Amino acid sequence: MGKTVIMDHPLVQHKVSLLRNKNTGTKEFKELVSELATLLCYEATRDLPTEEVEIETPIAVAKTHILSGRKLALVPILRAGLGMVDGMLVLLPAAKVGHIGMYRNEETLEPVEYYCKLPQDIAEREVIVLDPMLATGGSAIDAVTQIKKRGVKSIKFIGIIGAPEGLAKLQEAHPDVDIYLAALDEKLNENGYIVPGLGDAGDRIFGTK
Ligand code: PRP
Ligand code: URA
Repeated sequence: MGKTVIMDHPLVQHKVSLLRNKNTGTKEFKELVSELATLLCYEATRDLPTEEVEIETPIAVAKTHILSGRKLALVPILRAGLGMVDGMLVLLPAAKVGHIGMYRNEETLEPVEYYCKLPQDIAEREVIVLDPMLATGGSAIDAVTQIKKRGVKSIKFIGIIGAPEGLAKLQEAHPDVDIYLAALDEKLNENGYIVPGLGDAGDRIFGTK
């Protein structure tokens, strides 16, 4: 079973509180999503492999470590996942970015895929799937399935708020995927929204409602 980390760092909790507030406007909301992505990225990359190298400092030779192993790819689930990309690239500037477009059918809550463009060499990369909301889990599960079909062996999921129902479904469908969240909420409501959540992440990031 992959690991699940709910980040309890004070900065993360503070920023999630601001994000939840219905009076937080589009500009601040977008900035907070990006900042949270950076903080979650820091935690989710804790286990990246490193190798020892020798570097000449102005004073002496230092035995020190650099990243080794597979290169990375980020895959935001459109639309809301897009809001996390720049914050991730702050720490991972060399990562390639693929996109998976999905929306939830409002009645069935089933995800409908409308776009998929992934880096050609994705099978050789470690992939991090991004979506601020893990509600029923349908979108994340389908995105990971699509990515696995391309031969990817190592996948992580980074979200901001999760519901227990969606977390359990993602863990069950893809037990090999490590999951990082900033908060785990109480439940889903009858419309598939996370309670208390933050509302519709895509609409709040892009100001569409
Ligand atoms: C939202 C959110 C996730 C999905 C989560 O997207 O950004 O992608 O719902 O729900 P699930 O876990 O039940 O699948 P939405 O369908 O609203 O599309 P949008 O991002 O384009 O607004
Ligand atoms: N998608 C959102 O944007 N918010 C929710 O609460 C659930 C799904």
